[in-house]
Amino acid sequence: MKKISRKAFIVGGVTAAATGACLCTKTGRATIFGVGDTPPIASDAYDIAEDKSIRIHLDRVPELAFDGGSIKILDTAIDDSLIIVRIAENDYVASSIKCTHRGVEVEYQAQDKCFKCASLGGSTFKTSGEKIHGFAKSPLKTYPVSTEGDTLVVRLS
Ligand code: FES
Repeated sequence: MKKISRKAFIVGGVTAAATGACLCTKTGRATIFGVGDTPPIASDAYDIAEDKSIRIHLDRVPELAFDGGSIKILDTAIDDSLIIVRIAENDYVASSIKCTHRGVEVEYQAQDKCFKCASLGGSTFKTSGEKIHGFAKSPLKTYPVSTEGDTLVVRLS
């Protein structure tokens, strides 16, 4: 990975801000690596079925045991990287975790019940995927979810 000096890092961000340019890949904690604070799901807490649906074993996912909790699934066996949120009891949402602007991870904002890009661009989206504001031009891709007992099923196709 190319090293960025502290001075170049700061100058780049200030220059971008002064010119009104997008800061999403210039400055900030998440924007360099594209990663937000959503915790990853444990590898033994889900399976991928032959039809590519994802079966999440809720009893192994403490982050989804409370309203507003979220996890991410980054797995090369599936075509998208996901964020799964428990909005309320028996109300879950599955969405692509990649902001449609430049691919930085979005995070769930429980107080506003929306997704917000972790970059300084900060595009926000409804849990339906619809953009609220920001640099992103298109909505987040969302996926249907259903529950079967203690299993949450996310259908990718
Ligand atoms: S990557 Fe730019 S707003 Fe999300």
